Amino acid sequence: MPSSRYLARDAVRLIVERLENKGRDPVSILELGPGTGTFTERILPHLRDDDRFDAVELNTYFYKILRRRFKSNNILKIHHQDFLTFQSENKYDFVISSLPYEGIPSKVTRKMWEHKLSLCNPDAYIIYYKYVNFNQFRSRFEKQMVRNYCEDKKLVFLNMPPARLLTLKINKAGDLNESHGEVNAPDSNGITNGKHTEGSDSRIVSNGY
Ligand SMILES: C[S@@+](CC[C@H](N)C(=O)[O-])C[C@H]1O[C@@H](n2cnc3c(N)ncnc32)[C@H](O)[C@@H]1O
Repeated sequence: MPSSRYLARDAVRLIVERLENKGRDPVSILELGPGTGTFTERILPHLRDDDRFDAVELNTYFYKILRRRFKSNNILKIHHQDFLTFQSENKYDFVISSLPYEGIPSKVTRKMWEHKLSLCNPDAYIIYYKYVNFNQFRSRFEKQMVRNYCEDKKLVFLNMPPARLLTLKINKAGDLNESHGEVNAPDSNGITNGKHTEGSDSRIVSNGY
């Protein structure tokens, strides 16, 4: 079932605010798991020609719907693939994600987070939601990301099921990415040269984090 209009409105709020700022620079947005385009449709009307908007959808049926729905838009690029295989020379100011972490193993979740981070601009925002019934963090890495970078949390009851919307501001993402690129064997605390490893304790320690 697609997200409700309430969740969609709240999920894109920060992006739309930036896009509506008259004096702004070009903005680049990455959407993960757009489904039928519930979030996408709210972002598109605010884009300018020099903005960038990539959406990555794995499901063939949804991909075809998206292609049909948004065929008249020249800025949106829809990529039909698994996000983990998505490569881009571009870095993004906003990553808005609907990827269902609840249903995937924590190792894969961690890979997805690392991949997301590698695509972030230094002051990027990552916006995503978790269904309240499945609110536990299966991945310690994700939990720690939220602990370190969460700027805003909001419960959206008017959604089926209710969802918790999380906004992370990835300050100094560049430093973080570099450290994630080379994870060695963890010491007894799970920290390697100041880097966090999955299965370690719950800290990411990197250049002051
Ligand atoms: C819960 S739906 C959300 C759809 C829409 N964003 C919404 O909120 O209504 C999750 C979407 O993520 C897509 N998805 C799941 N795993 C993916 C992956 N590894 N790469 C890209 N898309 C994925 C699914 O096909 C589905 O469209």
